[in-house]
Amino acid sequence: MAGDPGEIFSLAGKTAVVVGASSGLGARFAQVLAAAGAKVVVGARREDRLSELVERIVASGGEAIAASCDVTDEASVEDLADTAVGELGSLDVMVACAGVAPQDYDEPESAESFRKVMDVNATGAWLCAASAYRRMKGAGGSVILISSISGLLAGDGPDSPSYTASKGAVVNLTRELGVRWAPESIRVNSIAPGWFHSEMTETDLSSPSGLEFVESRTPLGRVGAEDELDGALVFLASEASSYVTGHTLVVDGGWTAR
Ligand SMILES: NC(=O)c1ccc[n+]([C@@H]2O[C@H](COP(=O)([O-])OP(=O)(O)OC[C@H]3O[C@@H](n4cnc5c(N)ncnc54)[C@H](OP(=O)(O)O)[C@@H]3O)[C@@H](O)[C@H]2O)c1
Repeated sequence: MAGDPGEIFSLAGKTAVVVGASSGLGARFAQVLAAAGAKVVVGARREDRLSELVERIVASGGEAIAASCDVTDEASVEDLADTAVGELGSLDVMVACAGVAPQDYDEPESAESFRKVMDVNATGAWLCAASAYRRMKGAGGSVILISSISGLLAGDGPDSPSYTASKGAVVNLTRELGVRWAPESIRVNSIAPGWFHSEMTETDLSSPSGLEFVESRTPLGRVGAEDELDGALVFLASEASSYVTGHTLVVDGGWTAR
């Protein structure tokens, strides 16, 4: 339950898993959770990137370990969750941040492309949540899925059909699991970011027309800064959000308010 305002955002004594931590938002999330006191397990396919991230977290005084993980492979996701419990003692926070977006596709998008994106973004989020449920049952915990403003709106940017469908699936999966797992004190929420710099958005945001589109369409008039998802993440991970579940928290500079 939420308590002392000075303590409610602390993650001291908690173990967090961040899947999709080798770049972009996930790499940032792992560092923020560690700074809030959590021991962190970082997973993705590019192990060299994960090792560098662990070095950065440890150099800042945090505790982190890396484990290779492919979210399209259930056994790999289960192994990652086992690593958290086996090596760090528990799994209290799961952040499912792995995601892909096709940069180029023919109209209509091929079934192959559509399936691939759904497999990573929607089924991958589900596998992360399910692996967390198995370890949190009886103890409770916080599952944070990463959706997108593209899961709430349509026809509003360069997104593919698969990307918007997969992120819409994450929004309603959040509701379903939030309700379904509430009796176990497992809270399930999602963050829906607007536009932030990352490998995924590099092509769009590095072109003058792409950047101009985002800046002019965003009420706050700019792309999100690197640290502008930190508050939403720590809020949802910690006891500060103990009465929040099934919720998608939009952090988009006002994009979806239009
Ligand atoms: N940046 C934005 O503006 C924005 C806005 C809304 C939502 N999002 C969402 O935020 C999340 C992070 O994206 P990002 O912007 O930070 O892009 P990014 O830098 O491209 O990061 C994507 C991450 O997903 C991982 N990943 C991809 N396929 C995977 C797989 N099969 N198994 C495990 N990990 C996999 C990548 O790691 P490996 O390649 O090493 O496996 C990488 O760590 C995504 O879900 C994205 O849809 C981003």
